[in-house]
Amino acid sequence: ISLKPYNTFGIDVMASHFVSVASVSDLISVIKQKDFSKKFILGGGSNMLLTKNVEALVVHINLKGKTIISQEDSHVLIKAEAGENWHEFVLWCLDHDFGGLENMSLIPGNVGTAPIQNIGAYGMELKDHFISCQALNVDTLETETFNKLDCNFGYRNSIFKQQAKGKYIITSVVFKLTKKRHALRTNYGAIQGQLDFMGVKKPTIQDISKAVIAIRESKLPNPKVIGNSGSFFKNPIISSEAFKALQKNFPDAPSYPISEHEVKVPAGWLIEKAGFKGKTFGNYGVHKNQALVLVNYGGAKGKDILALSKLIQNTIYRIFNISIEAEVNIL
Ligand code: EPU
Repeated sequence: ISLKPYNTFGIDVMASHFVSVASVSDLISVIKQKDFSKKFILGGGSNMLLTKNVEALVVHINLKGKTIISQEDSHVLIKAEAGENWHEFVLWCLDHDFGGLENMSLIPGNVGTAPIQNIGAYGMELKDHFISCQALNVDTLETETFNKLDCNFGYRNSIFKQQAKGKYIITSVVFKLTKKRHALRTNYGAIQGQLDFMGVKKPTIQDISKAVIAIRESKLPNPKVIGNSGSFFKNPIISSEAFKALQKNFPDAPSYPISEHEVKVPAGWLIEKAGFKGKTFGNYGVHKNQALVLVNYGGAKGKDILALSKLIQNTIYRIFNISIEAEVNIL
């Protein structure tokens, strides 16, 4: 079958075999099948670039459900199954007046893949509200629980991208959310400006979500209309010395402090400065409103987009002496 509907980049590659699983016991029986040595686990398909046909059994994680595990006056614990769409889950939480995820509205992908790269946006990260996740060990077929510390979360990073890579399938995630008014994060970038524009003086979590949605819609292409995987690259973290050197040639270079000795430089700025923003190469290119996003205008091949990403990386290195890494998984 074609994997086009299953990846937000909209790349049309074929999978030799495909199965969708709706329960953990089905997942275990599929993993046990000996006929397929290779299995390819597919969640929301929102963070991958497919560059060739997949000669494997594609296992689509379609586990659904949201449960309130426990409630106190101020907090609630919610368990969501891995196949829940992330944004629909965020909206469900907001409908119930459960706060914490509002800044992460409209991020593509599913609940079960969110911890892998510790998704984040507008000053908030998944780890800020994460309690634990359950994951199936693909060797032992036992379910194991990973608490927050076990996950070793970092910027777009976790144990599931490092030591545990390929060894586990996340089946559900437990979040701790607030029931009372909590400290809202409006300081990041455009949120306050958007709230002012909306005429909101005392924002609720629902207002924050609306502001984030408006900002994202203005900058980021809707994958249903233009294929993309969000930020294609990670923002590079460089030493303060390297940043000083950069500033000599580029006094307007933006940065965010990371530690005493390191800063993060927006890759979008580097790419824009290198002249790639809005550049189109036939049916693919660099998004016009956010240079960090590579786009498929329809019918593009994964390997062409990969080649463009390499060209961008090499050009950035040549101009700025900074290496930028892909954030999406290249498959
Ligand atoms: N910038 C440019 N030109 C561009 C894009 C960005 O100059 O075309 C510069 C500007 O200086 C701007 C700064 O970069 O102020 C930051 O831009 P933005 O706020 O859009 O954030 P970002 O660093 O480009 C990150 C995340 C996004 C997330 C936003 C908002 C990464 C790799 N990306 O982007 O996450 O939505 O912050 O929090 O960390 C994703 O991971 O897929 C994603 C979209």
